[in-house]
Amino acid sequence: MSTSKPRILTGDTPTSTGLHLGHFVGSLENRLALQDAYDCYFLIANVHAFTTLAEKPADIRANTIGIVKDWLAVGLDPDRSTFVLQSEIPAIAELTFLFAMLIPFNKVMRNPTLKTEIETKGLGETYPFGFPMYAVGQCADILAFRPELVPVGEDQEAHIEMCRDVALKFNQVYAGVGNRVLADDHFKSGGVFPIPKAKIGRVARLVGTDGTNKMSKSLGNAIFLYDDAKTVQKKLNKITTGRQSPTEPGDPTNILMQYVDAFIGAANPARAAELKAKYAAGDNIGDGHVKAELGEVINALLEPMRARRAKLEGEQGDAIVLDVIRRGVKKANVVAEETLAAAKKAMKIDFGGRTVG
Ligand code: TRP
Repeated sequence: MSTSKPRILTGDTPTSTGLHLGHFVGSLENRLALQDAYDCYFLIANVHAFTTLAEKPADIRANTIGIVKDWLAVGLDPDRSTFVLQSEIPAIAELTFLFAMLIPFNKVMRNPTLKTEIETKGLGETYPFGFPMYAVGQCADILAFRPELVPVGEDQEAHIEMCRDVALKFNQVYAGVGNRVLADDHFKSGGVFPIPKAKIGRVARLVGTDGTNKMSKSLGNAIFLYDDAKTVQKKLNKITTGRQSPTEPGDPTNILMQYVDAFIGAANPARAAELKAKYAAGDNIGDGHVKAELGEVINALLEPMRARRAKLEGEQGDAIVLDVIRRGVKKANVVAEETLAAAKKAMKIDFGGRTVG
């Protein structure tokens, strides 16, 4: 738990559970790889879940526990990293209000990630005030932990951009950092916040098994991390490419070849290149062969996760999760309170701290 390591913060919103391969190559893989070199904070954005599920608190609670189980099964490690439950970190809510003064309202409403969400979730004109507010809240989620890096999927880039804008503005307005100071130099020039950078996953957009849309639970085109081996192979076998025979030259960018890149290319780039060359040339390689090889590689990746997930089922698993949450909240509040105190001091609203009770 060395504090000298640079920090990372990222998170998920518990609007559903059920991580799939798209989550893995887009973000989870990055988190796993960064756990040793960085001081990692993984946030469960359970307050944000209320932006669309305000009337379903039981679902949000179940999803919150489910997400922590998913993370543990994937290999995120609460002994090395800190799991942060958003609703138990009051500094995040306070920073949200303070940051909201530094972002023009119209800029929030033009945020492309929010606009896309309003469309794809069919929110129309009926979404609550808190829905666009969550974009400001996300700035607070991040900045409360003063991280250098924020590993996210491509769809979150607009939020990270907004977060950078807020941090720059805060440092300039309240911490005397000059307008010409480069983002990377803000912290050492006296800024309260380092200006965080997004880190996008290796595969920014994994296509679903339908071959057209992004892999997503709601589109029914996902291979889940906890599908059993047979289900994984069955889903792969159902993929259609329109190719007729093993000697027909195949499209080296089609869905199967994208999966070859994503899952075989990671560990064995030479084999991926060979498969793609043969496929493109129609060198006696059937779609069925590719699917079988993909199935083997993907199942080898998922097997240890499925085994860990199985051990977390039921109430015993819930108890483990609650303990992980309690430990994480304790550690997270130390850092977040420190940030809040520094921010309030810079804003000249430090009047001797809290007196509660
Ligand atoms: N909005 C993110 C998502 O839906 C989740 C999230 C909340 C997050 N707060 C964050 C991600 C802070 C990165 C950093 O995926």
